[in-house]
Amino acid sequence: MCSARTQREFDYLTDADADTLTWVRQANCLLVQGDTTDRSTFRGQFADLIVTSPPYNIGKAYTGEAQDDQRAYKDYLKFSECWMRNCYDWTLPSGRMCVNVALDKNKNGKTPLSADITATAMKVGWDYHATIVWNENNISRRTAWGSWKSASAPHIIAPVETILVFYKENWKRERQGTNDITADEFKDWVLGMWSFPGESAKRIGHEAPFPRELPKRCIKLLSFVGDTVFDPFAGSGTTLIEAVSHGRKAVGLELEPRYCGLIRERVARECKVKLDVCSRERAVKSTLSCWGG
Ligand SMILES: C[S@@+](CC[C@H](N)C(=O)[O-])C[C@H]1O[C@@H](n2cnc3c(N)ncnc32)[C@H](O)[C@@H]1O
Repeated sequence: MCSARTQREFDYLTDADADTLTWVRQANCLLVQGDTTDRSTFRGQFADLIVTSPPYNIGKAYTGEAQDDQRAYKDYLKFSECWMRNCYDWTLPSGRMCVNVALDKNKNGKTPLSADITATAMKVGWDYHATIVWNENNISRRTAWGSWKSASAPHIIAPVETILVFYKENWKRERQGTNDITADEFKDWVLGMWSFPGESAKRIGHEAPFPRELPKRCIKLLSFVGDTVFDPFAGSGTTLIEAVSHGRKAVGLELEPRYCGLIRERVARECKVKLDVCSRERAVKSTLSCWGG
């Protein structure tokens, strides 16, 4: 018989049965191969904290086809509205969401990406808490000046990304839990100006991984040990790895089968868990895959 807490944690498994509950509880980490814009992927609320980086609409070939990440901007905002609304529905009332995007988008026309994602999140119900500026220190890569030393058309760009922090109902978490953040980390990280290097796509084998430091900070600053951390664009599994490494439960959703394979490999290697892959047809279109040690 499940405890109230266990029931609450796992009632999002549409086809959950006693075996799956036992197994996932041991595993602490669940990957669903599916589409974040498909509302039926999960039933009910389960996320204490979302840490994610969605596609930026800059032509990354996640599916092997660059045009899939290159929609008309209004369609991209519709896509953003859809996934953020689903995530809102899948988040517990006390839950939070961190979204990493570029401050501005410069490819295929300039757009205030971070501002538009903030407005879209608020449109679907998220409350705004803060914007953290992440300085990747990649200014040396800069070569496009527009008009050189002329007021004609200088190309202005702030080479930073943002981590947008939202919450669902109340910013203050009423249910207390175990913290694992140190005093120095807390003092540094509540100053929303973070500086650490990005991650190499080549090294990870994914088009756009973020560095482990990014989800690590969000997770330790904004969730308690034992909370459920969700990444709806799991990519190479960076958020899942940091969640498991810090004693949180991890749930990932990723569209691309090849990245699901990469996530399994990385989680096994980095978290030293023995993989036990399970997959079966779900009531919805997608395939459920989960693993544990
Ligand atoms: C910016 S990457 C995330 C990278 C991740 N933060 C990491 O560190 O590896 C976005 C990911 O979202 C996936 N994706 C794109 N559209 C999706 C959708 N509708 N549902 C689920 N995943 C999707 C892509 O395949 C890609 O792996």
